[in-house]
Amino acid sequence: MDTIKVGVLGATGAAGQRFVQLLDGHPWFEISALAASNSSAGNSYADACAWRVSSDMPAAVRDLEVLPVEPGFKADIVFSALPSSVAGPVEEAFAEAGYIVCSNASSHRMDSDVPLIIPEVNPQHLSLIPHQQRRRGWDKGYIIANPNCSTIHLVLALKPVQDAFGIERVMVTTMQALSGAGYPGVSSLDIVDNVVPYIGGEEEKVETEPLKLLGRFDGEGIEFADITISAQANRVATIDGHLEAVSVDLAQQAPIEDVMAALGEFRAEPQELGLPSAPERPIVVRPEPDRPQPRLDRMAERGMAAVVGRVRECPVFDVKFAVLGHNTIRGAAGASILNAELLVAKGYLGDWSTAADDKVRLSRALAAEMIQHARERAPEEVCGIVAGENGHFSRVYAARNVAENPSVTYEMDPQEQLRIFKEIDERSWDVAGIYHSHPASPAHPSPTDMRLAFYPSVVYFIVSLMQPDRPVVRAFRLDQERNNTEELELAILD
Ligand SMILES: NC(=O)c1ccc[n+]([C@@H]2O[C@H](COP(=O)([O-])OP(=O)(O)OC[C@H]3O[C@@H](n4cnc5c(N)ncnc54)[C@H](OP(=O)(O)O)[C@@H]3O)[C@@H](O)[C@H]2O)c1
Repeated sequence: MDTIKVGVLGATGAAGQRFVQLLDGHPWFEISALAASNSSAGNSYADACAWRVSSDMPAAVRDLEVLPVEPGFKADIVFSALPSSVAGPVEEAFAEAGYIVCSNASSHRMDSDVPLIIPEVNPQHLSLIPHQQRRRGWDKGYIIANPNCSTIHLVLALKPVQDAFGIERVMVTTMQALSGAGYPGVSSLDIVDNVVPYIGGEEEKVETEPLKLLGRFDGEGIEFADITISAQANRVATIDGHLEAVSVDLAQQAPIEDVMAALGEFRAEPQELGLPSAPERPIVVRPEPDRPQPRLDRMAERGMAAVVGRVRECPVFDVKFAVLGHNTIRGAAGASILNAELLVAKGYLGDWSTAADDKVRLSRALAAEMIQHARERAPEEVCGIVAGENGHFSRVYAARNVAENPSVTYEMDPQEQLRIFKEIDERSWDVAGIYHSHPASPAHPSPTDMRLAFYPSVVYFIVSLMQPDRPVVRAFRLDQERNNTEELELAILD
């Protein structure tokens, strides 16, 4: 695949520099624009940026001119590392101008139509994107956000626990590193020989964002999880890595070994999809009594893991543990980049038929609908249309087969076809696929199928019931004019 051009807003700051570092040599993304405040704009990145990341500033960006944070530069995706005091309207302006905005800032995180995403936790919330675009009148651009740098690691650790045992209440005390306050951040005279038991706005974020992340997409919006969280945030004198002490009241009692197993075995969609920034183990469980520690553990899985340790019984709630994560990698830039990789892999960049690895991705539910339709009418062939929205297949429309001999071919009822096309159009979706069944033959296009292939840009799905207990769905690109049949790799996703 061609590399995708990306821009970074707030590129000179603590989170912005991490973006620049992590995007250097990225297999899918290439930095084409860097932007910051008016005091940096117009200078080269090397001159504008006091580089404070341990590796050298990537050579490819040194001479890039820093731009003001206004739409107009060549990029498909824009990563925002702007202070939340400025990010809100700027991110909206970019989305309105057609850019995909992956934001670190808190400005839009809790907007009801903005997906707040941790790819391992709630990838299905991306379905909010078309709602957001319709509501705001944006045809191409949209905003997705990653959570606060303490929320991410907490929720990564809570997700498998919630799935296995349910969660009713959580108490969390954070010990947050200095880089979380940006640069130059907290004055040395305030933090050396000290702990500051207050970080403005932080406790509210940690108490509310997990409820959205662990909530359920109900087809229109997010129904928040019914969990009560109490958070206390402290600034401590570490440089990177937020450590959190967590106690959890479970809905269903569980032995500590079972909780540890749920944490250690946790894998999710980014691992299955093999996203470039996905950690192999999203949760690393340390058995030692004195781990995790920021200095020793923050770079676990290249800084992309939540490191959990000291899992034990809690005399007040049920279970308690410590969790640590790198605040500018998994807590900021790495999180946004992983979100963008998920968008690409799931086809949210506009081309619904093929994603980053040229696979056609279809949800198991939609495949099951096609198979169910085929079984209901067998030995006749069935047919229908698959709608797509923003790069993914969203709905199957079954149509009536009015062919004279429906056991050997299909012909969609023209009136029904018109009605389906109209509905797809009204919803601002695309006609993304056409399916039909082969009740007794393999899932391979026949000469008749080629004759009926009037739409070279859609995906043709064929459902075979040749082995009734083992239905097969395959995907093809059929170009009638060039008499060309291309099988597409089909990934069925849960
Ligand atoms: N640091 C973390 O661990 C972390 C973690 C998660 C999320 N975040 C979020 O990421 C965002 C950035 O945080 P940070 O820690 O990187 O802050 P930072 O170090 O203060 O950097 C702020 C960046 O925004 C630019 N900027 C400031 N005011 C601007 C304006 N009026 N117009 C345009 N650009 C402006 C700055 O450019 P100049 O250099 O030109 O001033 C700089 O590039 C915040 O929303 C923060 O909450 C940070």
